[in-house]
Amino acid sequence: MTKLKEQLQETTDFLRGKGLEQVDFGLILGSGLGELAEEIENPVAISFSEVPHFSLSKVVGHAGKLVYGTLAGKKVLAMQGRFHYYEGHSMQTVTYPVRMMAALGIHSIVVTNAAGGVNEAFEPGNLMLITDHINFTGDNPLIGENEDDMGPRFPDMSQAYTKNYQEAAKAAAAEQGIVLQEGVYMGFSGPTYETPAEIRMARTMGADAVGMSTVAEVIVAAHSGLKVLGISCITNLAAGMQSSLNHEEVVETTERVKEQFKQLVKTTLKNM
Ligand code: HPA
Repeated sequence: MTKLKEQLQETTDFLRGKGLEQVDFGLILGSGLGELAEEIENPVAISFSEVPHFSLSKVVGHAGKLVYGTLAGKKVLAMQGRFHYYEGHSMQTVTYPVRMMAALGIHSIVVTNAAGGVNEAFEPGNLMLITDHINFTGDNPLIGENEDDMGPRFPDMSQAYTKNYQEAAKAAAAEQGIVLQEGVYMGFSGPTYETPAEIRMARTMGADAVGMSTVAEVIVAAHSGLKVLGISCITNLAAGMQSSLNHEEVVETTERVKEQFKQLVKTTLKNM
């Protein structure tokens, strides 16, 4: 067995020992969006620090725990917080939770994040369905030897964000009367916010929103054959579109729209 597989075996054995049985959906909850995990019924909560081969997440607004249980009638495993490349983690560490989810038999993941709006029609507080992404981090979690039984050497990214799930999210938004923008998420490494020139570049390249997460996770999801739903919370207009940017505004906006966000994800999950 390779080292990665041995580690995954230890992680999944540990989680099974904590009572995890069959799980269908993995939820990765971004900055300020972790409260959704508090609505999970019959929760089993496990701190990241307890989980073998997990690293610690240190960003403000991230609780850093796994919560297993039932949400909208589905068996879910939620991550309250995630690992970021800008924290100095390798792409492999950033995506280890997705590997773990695949190893647990999860077939689909919901990835969420806070993002800056690049599309001029977006307003802070909008939710955006991610239809595609641009990996602008300068790295890729699949660089290195490929484990052929985990996924292909050259994964197809043509439909990384599952079309049926996009339809389910749009139907859920319509049902709940929630405005749901849609567009392309461009992932930067961070931790700086972008410059106004970088945002003009992003827009020219086809981005509707920018952020510092998600793309690596979705690459590994595609490699692992997982279906993906992605939702961004547009917390601010991107650099150059408002006077300045700060993390407090990001947290304030997620706080303001979290009820809508939770409603959208729960209603979508029901239809997935
Ligand atoms: N840029 C990058 N990441 C972000 C932003 C932004 O404007 N807002 C929230 N996360």
